Amino acid sequence: MGYAIELSGVTKRYATGEGQVTALDDLSLAAEAGEVLAVMGPSGSGKSTLLHLVGAMDRADEGTIRVGETEVSALSSRELPAYRQRIGFVFQRFHLLPALTVEDNVAAPVLPYRTGYDKHERARELLAAVGLTGKERSLPSGISGGEQQRVAIARALIGAPGLLLADEPTGNLDSATGAGIVQLLLELREARGMTVLVATHDLVVASRCDRIVRLRDGRVTDDAPVPKGRAPERVLEEISRLQPGP
Ligand SMILES: Nc1ncnc2c1ncn2[C@@H]1O[C@H](COP(=O)(O)OP(=O)(O)OP(=O)(O)O)[C@@H](O)[C@H]1O
Ligand SMILES: [Mg+2]
Repeated sequence: MGYAIELSGVTKRYATGEGQVTALDDLSLAAEAGEVLAVMGPSGSGKSTLLHLVGAMDRADEGTIRVGETEVSALSSRELPAYRQRIGFVFQRFHLLPALTVEDNVAAPVLPYRTGYDKHERARELLAAVGLTGKERSLPSGISGGEQQRVAIARALIGAPGLLLADEPTGNLDSATGAGIVQLLLELREARGMTVLVATHDLVVASRCDRIVRLRDGRVTDDAPVPKGRAPERVLEEISRLQPGP
């Protein structure tokens, strides 16, 4: 089952050479368990920061973040690794290890840990789930960009996460391949009941999610469900109207 998410009054500031930048500004947001949320907004609006804080890769200055039963903002540094292990991450750059085979890349996150399952068997099952049976022994350099992103998704799922955080997962892919990746995420959500947060600039990607949250200057400016049961072009038309004009 996926984790419900709740951010309440979250502020994140970064110190820079020119002073402080407020990346998230008193932001509140909730997602239901199993929901697929698109996080949109212009460059610099705080999308990646939001994902990093939810994934406990960085800490908020103010506010609280709850993921399932866990109060992420209250975790001690000793508790962080166990929490992160329950979250899957997918990034724009696939970050595959070039010297490892596809199968070893997928198993890599859990190799240091004792698990109740066979790591390589699960890696092969996940590769089958993302349509990469037969590529287990390939090196990342020997497969396409879309295939590499599917390996990255399989790797993110190896710990059976209740939450998948995807930061521009289709940003480096052509739109057809990108649409295939989103379709895959949606199918995996159906099969596994994960909650998914996907930061994206791509309206086609966003139109396939359950809900779109739009950020600007670290605040939520729009939060709307994606209309269901309409032709894809109509959905695109409706959600693009949500976007602030030029
Ligand atoms: N490590 C950092 N140090 C200093 N400032 C940062 C850091 N990370 C992000 N920022 C700043 O915080 C703000 C939000 O950045 P963030 O990366 O979350 O935006 P984004 O919406 O993901 O943008 P993009 O669409 O370009 O990926 C920006 O002003 C950015 O410059
Ligand atoms: Mg970003």
